[in-house]
Amino acid sequence: MLTLSQVTKRYPTGDRALTDIDLTLPAGQVMALIGPSGAGKSTLIRCVNRLVEPTSGSIRLGDTELTRLSGRELRRARRAMGMIFQEYALVDRLTVMENVLSGRLGQVGFWRSFLRRYPADAVTEAFRLLERVGLPHAIDKRADALSGGQRQRVGIARALLQDPQLLLVDEPTASLDPKTSRQIMRLIRELCAERELGAIINIHDVALARQFADRIAGLRAGEIVFDGRPEALDAETLTTIYGEENWGEEEWDTQGQAADEASSSSVEPATRLSLATGGAS
Ligand SMILES: Nc1ncnc2c1ncn2[C@@H]1O[C@H](COP(=O)(O)OP(=O)(O)OP(=O)(O)O)[C@@H](O)[C@H]1O
Ligand SMILES: [Mg+2]
Repeated sequence: MLTLSQVTKRYPTGDRALTDIDLTLPAGQVMALIGPSGAGKSTLIRCVNRLVEPTSGSIRLGDTELTRLSGRELRRARRAMGMIFQEYALVDRLTVMENVLSGRLGQVGFWRSFLRRYPADAVTEAFRLLERVGLPHAIDKRADALSGGQRQRVGIARALLQDPQLLLVDEPTASLDPKTSRQIMRLIRELCAERELGAIINIHDVALARQFADRIAGLRAGEIVFDGRPEALDAETLTTIYGEENWGEEEWDTQGQAADEASSSSVEPATRLSLATGGAS
């Protein structure tokens, strides 16, 4: 269980990115975090793994107060949190297998991993995970020879090799086509269920969030303005989160322009597209 209490982040530049965030994520729950660009989604998940230092407030994972940790204890706590990024963050010149095994870097120590010697149980588990994420044939391929969707699968396998208690996922589908995006979200969803893993998934695509999350939190200007079941996310709440927009079916005139083009410019393209294509399935 992850608990954030009164978490505030103010960057040195003066930008207040998060204000008094209270949030509890039970084990096994998949939560999508939505909100406009700059709302603070990445800041929130980075405060959890302390890539960003929260200015004040408390963040607990199980019994551990994360905000007070440093050094070895912080590294140990970070291993309990698997990170999956949009940019996949793989090492291009290494193979798929080596990239997955690097998820154990913290556990095997610098020299062993530098010499690329990993414990046999880690290698066995990496094989198993690569099979599970659908890449059993790509083990020896270099990471730079993979498609975006395949790279994301490697990123997922690497995060899971840490045997985390929690997944922190920042825009996992931002550069993927619609079908691959759904496959990746489905995979994350299934793995969370199999392992009773909680997840916070930052995502711009509201339809994907609705389809694959147990819960949706909406962030606007650093504050949570919606927190509920996906079914409860209606046009009014979307307006609260993103601002005014026609959230129903878009009507197009014969010139192929949206009827209310003028008011739609402030919305993320992915959000607009997925809503227009009839997201709430
Ligand atoms: N390193 C930083 N230094 C100063 N300000 C920052 C830094 N990172 C983010 N911010 C500011 O904090 C606010 C929240 O940014 P954040 O990246 O968390 O938003 P986001 O919701 O993830 O946006 P996006 O959807 O575009 O990824 C923004 O106003 C941003 O400009
Ligand atoms: Mg972000």
